[in-house]
Amino acid sequence: MNKPEDKFVLMPQGQAGDPGLFQELLKQETVPVPDYLAPNHPGFRDEDLSVGRYASADFHRLEAEKMWTRTWQFVGREEQIPKAGDHLVYDIVGHSIIVMRGDDGVIRGFHNSCLHRGRALRMNGGVVRELKCPYHGFTWDLRGKLASIPCEWDFKFLDKAGSNLPEVRVESWLGFVFINMDDNAPPLIDYLGALPQHFRDYAFERSVIVAHVQRRVPSNWKVAQEAFMESMHAHVTHPQILTFTGDCDSQYDMYGDNISRSVTPMAVPSSHTKGVVEPLVLHDILEESGRMADSDGAAHQLPEGQTTRQYIGELNRKIFGDVSGRDLSHATLAELQDAILYSIFPNTQIWAGYCGNILYRVIPDGDDHESCLFDVMLLWRHKEGEVPPPPAKLNRLRDDQPFSAAPELGALGPVFDQDMNNLGAMTKGLRASKKGAVSLASYQESRIRHHHETLDKYLGIGGEK
Ligand code: FES
Ligand SMILES: [Fe+2]
Repeated sequence: MNKPEDKFVLMPQGQAGDPGLFQELLKQETVPVPDYLAPNHPGFRDEDLSVGRYASADFHRLEAEKMWTRTWQFVGREEQIPKAGDHLVYDIVGHSIIVMRGDDGVIRGFHNSCLHRGRALRMNGGVVRELKCPYHGFTWDLRGKLASIPCEWDFKFLDKAGSNLPEVRVESWLGFVFINMDDNAPPLIDYLGALPQHFRDYAFERSVIVAHVQRRVPSNWKVAQEAFMESMHAHVTHPQILTFTGDCDSQYDMYGDNISRSVTPMAVPSSHTKGVVEPLVLHDILEESGRMADSDGAAHQLPEGQTTRQYIGELNRKIFGDVSGRDLSHATLAELQDAILYSIFPNTQIWAGYCGNILYRVIPDGDDHESCLFDVMLLWRHKEGEVPPPPAKLNRLRDDQPFSAAPELGALGPVFDQDMNNLGAMTKGLRASKKGAVSLASYQESRIRHHHETLDKYLGIGGEK
């Protein structure tokens, strides 16, 4: 990894940051700029948040009861369960749901509990020909219909027709599969608000998971989510990316209750730095970003008269266009390289754009309010009409393994390790807080505030959902 102090002068704290930079960069685009890249911010607020929102088991129980039971939650991708009997198990704060493809091709959700004496039918995902309880053998077919019971003479009282597995709502969007335990919730597409319109040209329906890594993280689930909701931490936590990342020059946007976004300009040096020359920007973005079309910084030279932003945009346009079999001549330089990261309340964040896309899912680790499960997926598009490669298998890291132990993450692994280094320390510090509250930057941390405001609507704090 670079030693940043050898490469540039770090500006004094307090002076850096230009939230208007992204809109200025858009003026250099030579193709039409989509409307949805415009700013959309509802205005500043600055109240502190109480530490108990992270550190209290009672607050966690309230979330479990009132929020996790009523929201659309990303479970996995359709390509992970392509055949009849393929299934995922989604465990969420005391609930467990089997998400399974039936022999009719339909994906359904079932409460993962045997109707005999309640054993979990499946402990993990996989493939089955029927759902047969491993305890006494009650069996359901792949559509959840009761198929057979043992010693039937002893269950004469049982209403067989009424003994199909209770279902949970499942809906998909662009191959992303979501569940919702609330029968009265709005349809997924309405819940997603502006997102389908923003994502209409990114061809996520042809994405396939090329890396999937999961690890337990010793923090409240919101603390882990919030590590990806602002770029302000980069100059201290990720100094190696400052040569090519406009960290505190990011734009932050909100769309309704469930969607927020940050746009961090790439291929420009951070305004925390001084003296970064263009060849260094080019070298470092290729080597350290982990998401450009090439990772060999030494293999590229900036042609006379081109900026790194133009060069990287054209490189990504060509290679990601070839990989996906698409003509990307209409794509903006922004959508070909910038860090455009959306949240879907409560458990998912997805990168927009035409490059490889990163997805984060963060959920509580059962009843423990100071532990969560962090999943990262890398998605690449395949060509239309081409048989996609099978999705990557889950690489579940041990609790003591760093993300850099997952080579499939490339340069992103060490970046996640830097983030994770903060998270356990956040748990310790929140417990030790004398102030009893956290303060949020009015603008740069507004996605975090938005996340809590939506949470409050479900919890009935300051207005009902
Ligand atoms: S608990 Fe499932 S068959 Fe008995
Ligand atoms: Fe980070």
